[in-house]
Amino acid sequence: MHLLSLFDVNATQITHMLTLAGYMKAHPASFQNSLKNRSIAMLFEKPSLRTRVSFEVGIHQLGAQPIYLDAQMVQPGQRESVEDIARNLACWTHGIVARVFKHETLHKLSAAKIPVINALCDVHHPCQTLADLLTIQERYPIDMKVVDILYVGEGNNVCQSFMVGAAALDLKLTVICPPSYGPKQSFLDELQQRYPKHKITIGTDLSAVKHADVIYTDTWLSMGDSRDYQKTCDIFAPYQVNQALVKRLAATTVMHCLPAHRNDEITDEVMDGPISAVLQQAENRLYVQKAVFHHLFEESSQL
Ligand code: CP
Repeated sequence: MHLLSLFDVNATQITHMLTLAGYMKAHPASFQNSLKNRSIAMLFEKPSLRTRVSFEVGIHQLGAQPIYLDAQMVQPGQRESVEDIARNLACWTHGIVARVFKHETLHKLSAAKIPVINALCDVHHPCQTLADLLTIQERYPIDMKVVDILYVGEGNNVCQSFMVGAAALDLKLTVICPPSYGPKQSFLDELQQRYPKHKITIGTDLSAVKHADVIYTDTWLSMGDSRDYQKTCDIFAPYQVNQALVKRLAATTVMHCLPAHRNDEITDEVMDGPISAVLQQAENRLYVQKAVFHHLFEESSQL
């Protein structure tokens, strides 16, 4: 049982993890020993603040030992194959958290027969989405299905993962990206196949959106993207999340998974303003990831 993307879980399982995460947040001392005497490898090919720290703290809080491995040391695919790294890690550890350049690396790691958790790849960022969903649930506790959610920006890994989560939970989501910067067609095909009745609308015209309770954005250039930043800013400028947009759409929550390029995709005024949920999202990474461990270990009868 792995979490390589949210396609690996269904609506019931996502709801279960969100409920568990909420319980863990309300009861910080719960599940203290649920991963006692276990070790979790954390293989990171790319930089991280939130993901690394929240995973390390969460693993420690569950009674297990996190072992951080940076790619410079392990050199996946150079010093030895990804599959061999995974098979060796399975000799000593009980799970692998991995942040990788390519989604296929996660599939290679899953040869190890211990749970593998995607901590971001080029296509998905499932743990971020779970934290985002918990944040929306907390802010609109009556029913997430009545919330109008707008994602504006690049159709990147964060956007795509959020689309899977939204489709699974039957949420109303509008995705607005500049022409040619939307989600990948291969991803959209998979989403359509898995959730043919989803309530997601995709477009390029932000002025066509008349209302959103939640506005979500992300950086215009993802980590490691070699495109010219200034040219990208020129293309994305009409898609900035600023006070005028918040007012026009009557939004009550603004989200960003961070790190942000302040005053590019989101203005200081909005990010530091009263409806910003960015730190709530960041904090919730901890609880949902603890819930992910519990879910995966429970499913593989390791608890
Ligand atoms: N949101 C997120 O994944 O942050 P990091 O890149 O700092 O881990």
